[in-house]
Amino acid sequence: MSEQRTLVVAAASQSVVEKCIASVALSGKVTLLTTKKYSLPIESSTLYLDAAMFDEALEIDFPEYDSIVLVQPNDRVVSYLNVYRFLQKYNVEQVNILTPDKPVISTSVSKLLSYFSLSDVESSQVIHIDPQLIHDCVSLPQICHGQILSGDWDLDCVPFDSHISFYESLKQRVEQNVPWEDTHYFAEVLSDIRSGQSRFGCSSESDLIRHCAAMDSLFQSISEEGWIQSKAVDYVTIHISRDGKMLFADGRHRLSIAKQLKLKSIPVKVSVRHAQWVNFKAEVKSYANAFCHGRLYAPVEHPDFVEFEQTQDSSRYTLIQRNILPTSTTVLDIGSHWGYLCGFLEKFGYDCTAVEGDVKNFYFLDKLRTANQKQFKAVRTSIFDFEQSKFDAVLALNIFHHFIKTPELHKMFVTFLGKLDINEMFLQTHSTDEPQMIGAYKNYKDEEFARFVIEHSCLNRFELISDMEHGRKLFHLVK
Ligand SMILES: C[S@@+](CC[C@H](N)C(=O)[O-])C[C@H]1O[C@@H](n2cnc3c(N)ncnc32)[C@H](O)[C@@H]1O
Repeated sequence: MSEQRTLVVAAASQSVVEKCIASVALSGKVTLLTTKKYSLPIESSTLYLDAAMFDEALEIDFPEYDSIVLVQPNDRVVSYLNVYRFLQKYNVEQVNILTPDKPVISTSVSKLLSYFSLSDVESSQVIHIDPQLIHDCVSLPQICHGQILSGDWDLDCVPFDSHISFYESLKQRVEQNVPWEDTHYFAEVLSDIRSGQSRFGCSSESDLIRHCAAMDSLFQSISEEGWIQSKAVDYVTIHISRDGKMLFADGRHRLSIAKQLKLKSIPVKVSVRHAQWVNFKAEVKSYANAFCHGRLYAPVEHPDFVEFEQTQDSSRYTLIQRNILPTSTTVLDIGSHWGYLCGFLEKFGYDCTAVEGDVKNFYFLDKLRTANQKQFKAVRTSIFDFEQSKFDAVLALNIFHHFIKTPELHKMFVTFLGKLDINEMFLQTHSTDEPQMIGAYKNYKDEEFARFVIEHSCLNRFELISDMEHGRKLFHLVK
């Protein structure tokens, strides 16, 4: 077997390189590529390069190495753009990055470069989110950018509001006109500067005063002109946890401003996704493919999902929201499927309960409810076994025709209607010529179906709200 050959690209001092190399115990033949005049105290060869190496044509045969190891003194990416470009020039794709005291990160040069590139970012990593949905922060090395990571990294989070001092201090500044110099943020950053650190590009108190004035201007400009996204490196960056929670990663100043201004939506760059979340997204996709040629019954609200085409008319959600009685606050959604409508109405302040009898549909409902941080109640049971209490409104969309297919179901349905204690119902009826109704015990046609429901429930009147796709109709029934 031929000897393993490793090229170590050293973007760090000798002591850092030695420490990193010792931590991974490289075997075989090691070649060091460095701009500094030092070599490694292990059996190795050294290629010295001038600092200008990155712009020159060099005689390095990258393909002859089995692995490329890049040593960086820290886990950030911004300072190493020239190195990544250099590797890209030689068609190096896979790299193992070593930093002191951190595990090896295996990544690709294109992922690292996508951190900087607006076009890549726009096409694949930018999503639009409501900034109020970010509650927690998690710290991951910047060099993990673009990765799908398993493990418990996403459980190790801290609350944004208390952890990011800028947010609280900005609030005081905006709402009580507190001078920056009297805020916790100013004191914290100044103390770091005095201990020798550089933070947010500030290494002196006067730098910090200028930085705070720039924050005032940024706040002013976003409040007057809205969010303007320019450079790729200026994006607010998030990670996505196993259950779809959006976790703050980078861009605290802009995110704090967006939260304070209560902006409805901002573009953010997704850096790392948890492997379980990626698997869940794939499950949704394969369900959609198996269910109806890549289409889904209703939308999936989470911003990390591409839009799926829907099989049902999407106008019905706003039609219901506009027609619901002003006195209604509690809503029961019968046969909720994946819970989109409950989540939609929750945004308008309704207290919703989703009842879904199918195990698989409930699985997706429950996961999406958590991912979208919804509060509505979700009950996995047949509506006939649901312990009923009083509700103001009932949503019965594309469901009641399932209850008229056999005499037994029909009987249970009539009993169920008789027990309803409600003020209104939205009823979406089926079309009587659908194949699923062949051989059905009863097949009530739209208005006839609305009248049947009225006859057996506490409701008294109905009106047609709209014709829907596939010959279905949406009715509003009231007391
Ligand atoms: C045709 S889908 C309609 C979904 C939703 N109402 C809509 O229009 O977007 C019917 C849903 O009702 C559920 N379902 C059927 N029978 C049920 C029952 N007895 N109790 C609760 N859910 C039921 C099905 O699993 C399915 O998710």
